[in-house]
Order: sequence, then C-alpha cells, then structure tokens
Amino acid sequence: MVKALERIDNRLRWIDQTRLPAVVDYKESDDYFEIIRAIKRLEIRGAPAIGIAAAYGLAVAVERAKIYNPDFIRKVGSEFKNARPTAVNLSWAVDRVLARLNDSEGNPISDAQPLWEEAEEIHREDEQMCEKIGANGAELIEDGSTILTHCNAGALATGGIGTALGVIYTCRNQGKNIKVYVDETRPLLQGARLTAWELMHEKIDTTLICDNTAGMLMRQGKIDCVIVGADRIARNGDIANKIGTYPVAVLAREHDVPFYVAAPASTFDDNIKTGDDITIEERAPEEVTRGFGRATAPDDTKVYSPAFDITPHNLISQYITDSGNKPGGREQS
Ligand code: MRU
Repeated sequence: MVKALERIDNRLRWIDQTRLPAVVDYKESDDYFEIIRAIKRLEIRGAPAIGIAAAYGLAVAVERAKIYNPDFIRKVGSEFKNARPTAVNLSWAVDRVLARLNDSEGNPISDAQPLWEEAEEIHREDEQMCEKIGANGAELIEDGSTILTHCNAGALATGGIGTALGVIYTCRNQGKNIKVYVDETRPLLQGARLTAWELMHEKIDTTLICDNTAGMLMRQGKIDCVIVGADRIARNGDIANKIGTYPVAVLAREHDVPFYVAAPASTFDDNIKTGDDITIEERAPEEVTRGFGRATAPDDTKVYSPAFDITPHNLISQYITDSGNKPGGREQS
C-alpha cells in the first residue's frame, strides 16, 4: 500500500500528490516552510494526512531551529493551523503536539524528542483507526456490491489504508467481490488522479466517471452504496467534504442508495454546532480556468471555487468510525 507520509530521520518524506498519476515523486524536507507550502499546494492532502504532516512539521521546525521557547513553537503551530481552514484534523494534531511543550512535571522541553514522539503516536493511531474503520465499514457491504466514491479518502489521504477506501480494501481482503465507480472530482481531479490510481494499484475493479454521471448510474440501479470521507463533522452530524459531495448525497437519497461517511475520531469537532459554522476554503480561480496548464475559460472570467461543501446529517445513512457504525439522520426506507 502506498505511504503518503513517512518520517525519515529528522525529515518528513511525502509523495507529491500534485504530480500523480503521471509521476510518482517523493519529496523530503527538514524545513517547516516547505511542509506548510506542500499542504497549501495539496502535495500533501486529505484531512488526516495534513494533520499528521503538521504534527511532524512542528517537530521538524523545533529540531532544526533548536529553539524550545513555547512562544516560538506556538507561532509555528499557528502557521500550520492556518495552512488550510476546513479540516479539523490540522488544529487537532497541532494542539496535541503543543500539549507536549512541558514534560509530565511541568518543566519546559529541552529538545524536540517529545514532539517527534507525539507526531509518531498521531501517525500510528491514524493507521490503527483506518484499520478499524475498514473492519466496521465492511460489515455494511455485501459481497458483489458496487460502490461510488468521491474525491480521495484512501491511503494517500491518511496515515494508513484510508477511510472510505479502507472499507473497500478490507472488503477485498475478506474475499468480497467489489466494484468501484470513482467520481473524477472537479476541479482538481482527486478522484481521477489519485483514487483511480490508488485503487488500480491495489487491483480493485475501478471505473472512472465524470462527476455528472453519478445520477444516471443511480437511476439505472447500478450503485449499491456511496462511501465518502469527511474533513470535519459538526456536533449535529453535518459534514464538510470535497465540493460535490452534497449533490451526490441528494442523488443517493432520491434513488434510495445508502450514503455512508467514513471518518476517524480526529475528524469529529464537538466545538462546532452545525455545518453552517464550518469555514469553507476557497481556492484560486486558476485552478478552474487553467486547471492543468491549459486555458479552459477566458482568463478574466469571474470564478467561485469553494474546496468543500456541507452535507447535512439528514442525508447521511451511517457514520463509519473507528469506534463503530452510528446511524445518520436519514430516514431508513
Ligand atoms: O482538498 P483535499 O484533496 O484535501 O480534500 C480531501 C477530501 O475532501 C477528503 O474526502 C477528506 O479529507 C477525507 S480524507 C480521509
């Protein structure tokens, strides 16, 4: 299974996801600015993965600067938190590392070791949560199912086998015969470039579709369920996930197709009441007008490009989590 992130000595190594699927390019750095830049550019992406990267990034910064002053470390922590606003995993992971600024007796740290330890722990826990999500989710999926997914919630987006895709890999390992339709996921094509690549690497029966094909397939009865990941889950169960998730959930309800959200504990944000309180990141117009280098719209076109949308809890059939499957707010038919 591909590894999105890895600690190599005192550096972070990552696969540059902007270059997939054409080039499998690993980068390494001991410079925290480069790690923040990689998160902003989506070289490292997916809610759990950016949290893990930020945790390692803090350790990288302190290791290199050899400054143990809490103000400095908190400032670096804020820079990581501000890299992307929607996924809660980023600030969740940074806060966990910042909680190690003092040892158990309250003395300030004198080297970066405790920060590395916490980052590695976060990474290990995420890997284990993915395994549990996979096992719990597989209970909902029958042999012979055809699953639709949106964006990439796989190994590339996490510290383990993924959340939504973790369920698919676990089904495969259990001997179930699973087919997957992958939404291409405009505008940055995480579905086409990353999910299709990852699933094919794992020899899963994969069919790529344009985002606007999902409705027709559901109407034809060709989709048994939808599984997606999440970037943040509010107290009332509303979720933020990649733009285009909400219309898929609406289609799923219309066609009586179960809609599952797979996410680890680190994605649930008890401080946020409803999806309306989640900050939605907006991306640069060029990602739409010149997506992969070629002009697809006039340069001066006005563009609105939110990176995520909110799917209300009443469209969600089940949450698949590391601590079990929980019913969503959608009425069961
Ligand atoms: O902008 P991205 O590619 O970081 O968006 C990622 C998603 O929306 C994923 O579905 C989400 O982070 C869950 S990943 C387990």
